[in-house]
Amino acid sequence: MSQTQERTKSRRGFLGDAAVVAGASALAAAGIPAVHAAGSDLIQVALIGCGGRGTGAAGEALSTKGGPIKLVAMADIFENRLNGSHANLARGHGDKVDVPPERRFLGFEAYRQAMDCLKPGDVAIFATPPAFRWVHFKYAIEKGLNVFMEKPVTVDGPTTRKMLALASVSPKIINALAADKIDLACAQAFTLTDDHKRQERVFKRARTAHEVRALLTETKVTTGHRLFRFVGADAYREAGGTLTCDLFAKAGKVSRQYGRSDLNGHFLSPVSGCQLHPPRSPDRPC
Ligand SMILES: NC(=O)c1ccc[n+]([C@@H]2O[C@H](COP(=O)([O-])OP(=O)(O)OC[C@H]3O[C@@H](n4cnc5c(N)ncnc54)[C@H](O)[C@@H]3O)[C@@H](O)[C@H]2O)c1
Repeated sequence: MSQTQERTKSRRGFLGDAAVVAGASALAAAGIPAVHAAGSDLIQVALIGCGGRGTGAAGEALSTKGGPIKLVAMADIFENRLNGSHANLARGHGDKVDVPPERRFLGFEAYRQAMDCLKPGDVAIFATPPAFRWVHFKYAIEKGLNVFMEKPVTVDGPTTRKMLALASVSPKIINALAADKIDLACAQAFTLTDDHKRQERVFKRARTAHEVRALLTETKVTTGHRLFRFVGADAYREAGGTLTCDLFAKAGKVSRQYGRSDLNGHFLSPVSGCQLHPPRSPDRPC
C-alpha cells in the first residue's frame, strides 16, 4: 500500500477491514496508517508469547512512525519470560509500554485476557510456538482484532485449512461478529464457501450457524443421507463428485449432482473390506 493510500484510510478502518495476517516483522515495514478514526486513533497492541521473537516484534510495532501506538497487555505461560520482555521493551520504548501488573497475564488462558484489553481494530501479536495459533486466531477474529503472527503460522494440514478458511470470511461478516451481531459458530459456517458475494447474500437471510449451513448447502446431501454410501473421498472425487467439508463440523456434504442409479452403480461399489452401511462420518468409512 502506498503512503498516500495509507493516509486516506483510517487506522482502524485499515485494520478493521479484515483480520490481517502477516509476519510480525511486516508490522513496522507496512506502517500503521496515520489518519484519525472514530473514537481514537491510538492503536493498542497486545503481545501474546513474550519470548525473543515476540519481544522483537513488539519493539518493531512500537517503532512505527505512522501514529500513536501503545503496548497495553502481555501474555505468557511463564512469569520470568513476561517480566524479562516487559523490562526490555520498557527500556527501549518508554511510555509506549503501558502494561501495569494488572495487564500482565500468565497461563494458558492469558491470551484471552490480553486480547480482552483491546478494542476492535487493535492489534494482537502472536509469537508463541505455532501449536497455539489456531486457538488464538479464532479468539482474535471473535474480538474483531487484527493479527500479526510470527511464522510459521501452522505446522499441519488440517489447522492450516482452518486458518485459511477463517481468513477467507467476508470482512462484512467479521465486522458483524466483532459487533456481536452473530456468534463465532455462525461466522465459521460461512467458511463453507470462500465466495464473499455468496457469503454476503446468505448473510442477508441468515443469522445462525444452522441457517447459514442450510443455505450454503441447499443443493447438497449430507453424508448420512440414504443416497450416500461412503466409498472414499478420493474415489468419489475421481468419478466427478464434489465434497464440501465443513472444517468446523463433523459431517461433510456431497453435491446432489448424481441420480440414485449413479450412486448405486459406480459410486457404491464397496471399498475392499468395507460394508455398504452409511458411515457415521467421512473419517470412518468402514
Ligand atoms: N520468522 C522468524 O524469523 C522467526 C524467528 C524466530 C522465531 N520464530 C518463531 O516464532 C515463535 C517464537 O519464537 P521465540 O524464539 O520467541 O521462542 P521463545 O520460546 O523464546 O518464545 C515463545 C514464548 O511463548 C510462550 N508461550 C508458549 N506457549 C504459550 C501460550 N499458550 N500462551 C502464551 N505464551 C506462550 C513461551 O513461554 C515463550 O516465552 C516460534 O514459533 C518460532 O518458530 C520465527
